[in-house]
Amino acid sequence: MPVDVAAEVIANHPLSGDYNVLALAAPAIAASAQPGQFVMVKAGPGQDPLLRRPFSVFEILRDEAGSPAGISLLNKRVGASTALVYAAKAGQLVACLGPLGRPFSVVEAPAEAWMVAGGVGLAPFATLAEALHARGVRSTLFYGARRAAELFCLNVFRDLDIELTLTTEDGSAGEHGRITAPLERRLRAGSADAPVAIYACGPEGMLAATAKLATAYRRPCQVSVERIMGCGLGGCYSCVVPMRSEHGGVHHVRSCLSGPVLAGDQIVWD
Ligand SMILES: Cc1cc2nc3c(=O)[nH]c(=O)nc-3n(C[C@H](O)[C@H](O)[C@H](O)COP(=O)(O)OP(=O)(O)OC[C@H]3O[C@@H](n4cnc5c(N)ncnc54)[C@H](O)[C@@H]3O)c2cc1C
Ligand code: FES
Repeated sequence: MPVDVAAEVIANHPLSGDYNVLALAAPAIAASAQPGQFVMVKAGPGQDPLLRRPFSVFEILRDEAGSPAGISLLNKRVGASTALVYAAKAGQLVACLGPLGRPFSVVEAPAEAWMVAGGVGLAPFATLAEALHARGVRSTLFYGARRAAELFCLNVFRDLDIELTLTTEDGSAGEHGRITAPLERRLRAGSADAPVAIYACGPEGMLAATAKLATAYRRPCQVSVERIMGCGLGGCYSCVVPMRSEHGGVHHVRSCLSGPVLAGDQIVWD
């Protein structure tokens, strides 16, 4: 069950001029959040912006006894709400409703997991990586960013024995170009019999390309879509995604309820 809490800001760690990690005291959300779920957040008291905004649960924070004590958000400043999250101060209260949405389905060994992240699309993968690590699943993170300085939190994944494949658009770290290039090479090189589950989150173009590659190489692919969300609870229909129907045709689902994690091969991308 989602809960609505006024979560105290524990810490705000700036990563760059646009990115930060905000740690929130929210034990009830931390105790029940599953990888891929999100929270609806409002970090300011006023009416501008009026509505909350969706954020993936980035990390589950634990106290000294190992009990879930809070969550963190990986935030990219793009407008008014994300600017408030960027500027939040320790001790401030942040309205936080969650956990919401359908999580990733976590594979079991001997299947391998390949996570494909673009930019702030890294956010749902720290909790997924933790769940995969706990199950002993061999995992790779394919992570693409604009430049080296925007490849964040790599140690979170290294500490969980996740193999990293990095790309940057300007070639300043990892391979020069898009993350789907090394993904396609790995798909082409892999044995068709080895079970591999693909997970993706990032810009829509990257999601579509990843889902199409996964379909072409007959791999299951779960994508976390980032539609504009007005309520996060199924009431406003701002977040609909077109999906293929079983017998042809198209129907729409609300990605806050049926997603944000959806089957990549069922989304109508064009
Ligand atoms: C399920 C889900 C999880 C998300 N997780 C994260 C996260 O962990 N960290 C993070 O930084 N962001 C995340 N986002 C995106 C985040 O919600 C938007 O960036 C935010 O709503 C923008 O609000 P704003 O008031 O700052 O900007 P606005 O003023 O509302 O918008 C600024 C610009 O961003 C565009 N925009 C708004 N919402 C989205 C969106 N959902 N996707 C793409 N473009 C958008 C607008 O069209 C506009 O051009 C997530 C979105 C969803 C749906
Ligand atoms: S965000 Fe309102 S229906 Fe999905």
